[in-house]
Amino acid sequence: MDLSELVNAATGELSSIDSADQLEAFRVKYLGAKGLLKQASDQIKQIPADQKRAYGQALNQAKQTITDGFLQRKAAMDAQPAAATGVDVTEPGRIKCDPYRPGALHVIQKTIDDLIDLFARMGFSVADGPELEDEFHNFDALNVPADHPARHPMDNFYLDLPPGDAPLMLRSQTSSVQIRVLESHKPPVRIIAPGRVYRPDTVDATHSFMFHQLEGLYVDRHVTMVDLKTCIDLFARSFFGDQVRTRFRPSFFPFTEPSAEFDVQFGGADGSSRWVELGGCGMVDPNVLRAVGVDPEVYSGFAFGLGVERIVMRRHGIADIRDLFQNDLRLLQQFI
Ligand code: FA5
Repeated sequence: MDLSELVNAATGELSSIDSADQLEAFRVKYLGAKGLLKQASDQIKQIPADQKRAYGQALNQAKQTITDGFLQRKAAMDAQPAAATGVDVTEPGRIKCDPYRPGALHVIQKTIDDLIDLFARMGFSVADGPELEDEFHNFDALNVPADHPARHPMDNFYLDLPPGDAPLMLRSQTSSVQIRVLESHKPPVRIIAPGRVYRPDTVDATHSFMFHQLEGLYVDRHVTMVDLKTCIDLFARSFFGDQVRTRFRPSFFPFTEPSAEFDVQFGGADGSSRWVELGGCGMVDPNVLRAVGVDPEVYSGFAFGLGVERIVMRRHGIADIRDLFQNDLRLLQQFI
């Protein structure tokens, strides 16, 4: 191998290298353990004895020249700006950040956790169900007739499935978990089920298309409306303080009889106040118990479904539900 040709070739290649990958390939080709310089050094065995010394000196010189060239090119590329190497590690940050900012739970999740603690003290354990539901659990078993307006496609997020497939939907209420629990557990049953629900409602200060509900279900012998009202009152006073003003209004749900809606008073900063509905509730309809094989002559129960965002808003004086979903750090940081 002609060493001066080797040095010329290496010097030429070095000058056209403009990426870290090419530079590494160069290093392997010339300076690597099986590289051209190593091969040239192995050739010394075949060199006639009287030329060995000169060859050795030329080889050392070639090694030195190629190594120096490589190191110079590397130093120049390390100092190059982003355009050439992709990343300029020396560029100062553009946004002034706190040096260390740990994440935190969202105020909705914190509220759910507090509600779980509160209802646990009243003997409720936590149950869960799928967000993707079938019509049996979201409607049929809850005594919602086939022609009920609440089932209308305009009022629900049904999945777009091939014709003939059983309909599936994003659940519109956590009441579906009542059915799932009663299918798998014999009374006595005392659960709460927090979770997301979905409705194509028009978004305004108190309505979102995705929100959280907290379902409650208590089925046992001799459960009465007094137990229901006591439970809801205890929740409201523990959560919002003894001064909170609440009211029950008669209402209708296919899965409870009698049914009620439960409002709480929201105070405005200007001293004004308004009633906001927090949830629905009632005594479990005998048809629901029958649908899951529970004898309504032996057992009775109450159920409720609370809107979690409305609880968060009432608790923290947030006037608009949309503020909870903006991911604005100015709001989120208040609850760390
Ligand atoms: C229900 O969903 C019933 N499943 C509640 C229930 C459970 C009744 C068990 C009886 C027994 P309703 O559609 O009213 O009911 O919703 C319950 C609560 O969810 C409302 O009171 C409100 O606080 C909240 N809510 C309803 N729609 C929205 C929405 N679009 N955005 C935010 N919160 C909502």
